[in-house]
Amino acid sequence: MADPRNVLVTGGNRGIGLAIARAFAEAGDNVVITNRSGDAPEGLRGVKCEVTDTASVDAAFAEAEELLGGPVEVLVANAGITRDTLLMRMSDEEFDSVIDTNLAGAFRCARRASKGMIRLRKGRIVFISSVVGLYGSPGQTNYAASKAGLVGLARSISRELGGRGITANVVAPGFIETDMTAELPEDRKKAYLATIPAGRFATPAEVAAAVRFVSSDDAAYITGAVIPVDGGLGMGH
Ligand SMILES: NC(=O)c1ccc[n+]([C@@H]2O[C@H](COP(=O)([O-])OP(=O)(O)OC[C@H]3O[C@@H](n4cnc5c(N)ncnc54)[C@H](OP(=O)(O)O)[C@@H]3O)[C@@H](O)[C@H]2O)c1
Repeated sequence: MADPRNVLVTGGNRGIGLAIARAFAEAGDNVVITNRSGDAPEGLRGVKCEVTDTASVDAAFAEAEELLGGPVEVLVANAGITRDTLLMRMSDEEFDSVIDTNLAGAFRCARRASKGMIRLRKGRIVFISSVVGLYGSPGQTNYAASKAGLVGLARSISRELGGRGITANVVAPGFIETDMTAELPEDRKKAYLATIPAGRFATPAEVAAAVRFVSSDDAAYITGAVIPVDGGLGMGH
C-alpha cells in the first residue's frame, strides 16, 4: 500500500466532494474537507473556507496543514455552484458569482497549495469540472465558462510545475446522482438519460475513483488531462 498522503477536498461535506473525501480516507490517506461552516461529516475533519475570499482560503490551508501535520499533497478543488438562466436574462452578479466560486476559487486554492507542493517537489491538483465545460449547455453560460476555464488553468499549471513532480488534471463528471441532479424535473431527467450511452447517471463514487487514480503514483505521467466520467455523454469534447 502507498504511503498515506495529506489530502484537502474543497466542498467535501456533501455530494461528490464527500464521496471523494471518503474514498481517500478509506484508502488510508489523511483527509481534511472544507465547506462554508467548518462542520465535518462523521469521521472526517473539516475547516471553514469561503473560496471566493483569498484570506479565507489561506487561513483554511494553514488550519488544514496544522491538522494534517504538513503541507497538502493532494488538492481536490471541488467546491462549485450553479446559477442557471438564459443568456439574455443572466445578470452580471449571476455570471460573476459562478466564475468567482468555480474558477477563481479553484485558482486561489491551487495557488496556495502549490507553495507546499513546490517545497515537497511533489503534488497532485485535481479540478472538478463538468461535461458541460466542453460540451456546452443552454442556460449555463456562466457555469460552462467557469468549468471550461479549469482546463486552461490545469494545463498552464502543468506547464509551470510539471518539472517539480506536480500534476494538474481535470475530472469532468457528467450527470451524477446528487442533490444538484435530484432537483431536475422527471421529463428533463428522461431526456438527459436518452443522450447518455451508458443509459444511467453515475454514482459519486465513480467520480471519486477517477480522482483517486489521477492522484495516485501510477498517474505520475498524466498531467493537463481532462478525464471524463460521463458514461460517454461528452465523447470527443
Ligand atoms: N452533481 C452533478 O451532477 C455534477 C456534474 C458535473 C460536475 N459537478 C461538479 O462537481 C462539484 C460538486 O458538485 P455537487 O453536486 O456534489 O455539489 P453540492 O452537493 O451542491 O456541494 C457543493 C459544495 O461546494 C461548496 N461551496 C459552494 N460554494 C462555495 C464557496 N463560495 N466557498 C466554499 N465552498 C463552497 C459547498 O459548501 P457548503 O456546504 O458550505 O454550501 C458544498 O460543499 C461541483 O464543482 C459541480 O460543479 C457536479
